[in-house]
Amino acid sequence: MPGTPGLGDPGWVARAAPLTQGAVWLTVAVLCLGVLVGLREMVAFQAAGRRVRDGGRRWGIARWPGRGTQRTQRAPREAAPATGCPVAHRPHPEVRPRSGGAAGSTEVDRAEAEEFLRMFHAENPVAGPVEPRIDAVMREIDATGTYWHTPEELAFGARAAWRNNARCIGRLYWRSLQVRDLRTVSDAAGVADHCFEHLGAAFNGGKLRPMISVFAPDTPTRRAPRIWNEQLIRYAGYEQPDGSVLGDPRYCAFTREMMLRGWRPPLPRGAFDVLPLVVETSEEGPQMFPLPHDKVQEVQLEHPELAWFADLGMRWHAVPVISNSQLVIGGVSYPAAPFNGWYMGTEIGARNFGDGDRYDLVPVVAERMGLDTTDEASLWRDRALVEINRAVLHSFRTSGVSITDHHTESSRFLTHLEREERAGRRCPTDWSWIVPPMSGSQTPVFHRYYDTEDQRPNFVTDDGATRRALQGGPPAFG
Ligand code: ARG
Repeated sequence: MPGTPGLGDPGWVARAAPLTQGAVWLTVAVLCLGVLVGLREMVAFQAAGRRVRDGGRRWGIARWPGRGTQRTQRAPREAAPATGCPVAHRPHPEVRPRSGGAAGSTEVDRAEAEEFLRMFHAENPVAGPVEPRIDAVMREIDATGTYWHTPEELAFGARAAWRNNARCIGRLYWRSLQVRDLRTVSDAAGVADHCFEHLGAAFNGGKLRPMISVFAPDTPTRRAPRIWNEQLIRYAGYEQPDGSVLGDPRYCAFTREMMLRGWRPPLPRGAFDVLPLVVETSEEGPQMFPLPHDKVQEVQLEHPELAWFADLGMRWHAVPVISNSQLVIGGVSYPAAPFNGWYMGTEIGARNFGDGDRYDLVPVVAERMGLDTTDEASLWRDRALVEINRAVLHSFRTSGVSITDHHTESSRFLTHLEREERAGRRCPTDWSWIVPPMSGSQTPVFHRYYDTEDQRPNFVTDDGATRRALQGGPPAFG
């Protein structure tokens, strides 16, 4: 549940008791302070209310009451360009020295920090010798329990996390990841605003840019913000009285929870209603933000030959931004670090539209194609699946939105493997994720084995984050 509104329970100021003169002055002072705090909270509450109405105009959505407010901190939009090694050998001002009371997350693992620094310096000779940096980081961990990555370490760490992501077939381009250093942003509204900017910058008029926005890290004294949604753009799923689902069944529970918390879906409800973004901080609790329409770029589906396909009214969003994975670099966790590449057609055509527990389009398309669905051996499923996937690739292409097919991407992945091997690195790969969900044996990635053991930096998704993304709770900070 969201926290109690910051207006507070005024009961404590009403107590009357025999008072000495000193106590009277003390009481007056406390009362004045209470009134001031109350006023501040009221102003903050009204400001939040204004946002409710602004956001609500289009979406009819209410924000949840917060636990007080913080100012949105603006931070540089892109990571600073690499400039040698401006290493700060002292704790960063954003990280407070420890004062005993930990905020729930533990001290950074020194071995992980050192391992990462050695890797960074080995792969980036321009950064200079590693030993002074290791000494500085160890001192920083002594003082604060954590350390602050240089912008260069952060950018490299994020790219290496992509490179190590065993489930991603698109890793050939890992060096091109654009890193937005937003580590000074930790309030819910600031995180949401920057996520919306991310959507626009990553879409880039259709020529998608791989991009990550890295928000404040977890530290021993302060918990990082969390984004509940699995991706920045996801479609609502509504259970219908007859047991069917309108929209994406994967998000039925999340949708129900959002509605219980005050989200009002557009009228009439549709199969592609964009869910609100939920950002939770330990101070404010979970907060809902409707996505601005102009940041949600979508492609309407049509088929290169089957004219009736367009009448199905299918569409999909252009940019897949995963938003509930933690980026872990050298022992430091960044739980809010949404990142995107671009789609491979089968993700949409074979899984999102094809899976029986998603949009389940195969029987519908087979029917329209006039296939014999009574005989599995007619391969009606396979034939319909191919046409859905052709429609996805065709529609993205003709709309000028980046997309790739599974054959091209499979051979690029093998190029990536060769390059990694030549560089003397292991490339952790999960066969069950890398082999495309259709025509697997027609792609070269099918016919071999891979290194499997995990490597850091990486992206990790814990059970709590998965639960929040699918169930819409419970909150990370109680
Ligand atoms: N499979 C997910 C989806 O269909 C997207 C995962 C990330 N994909 C990507 N190409 N970066 O939405």
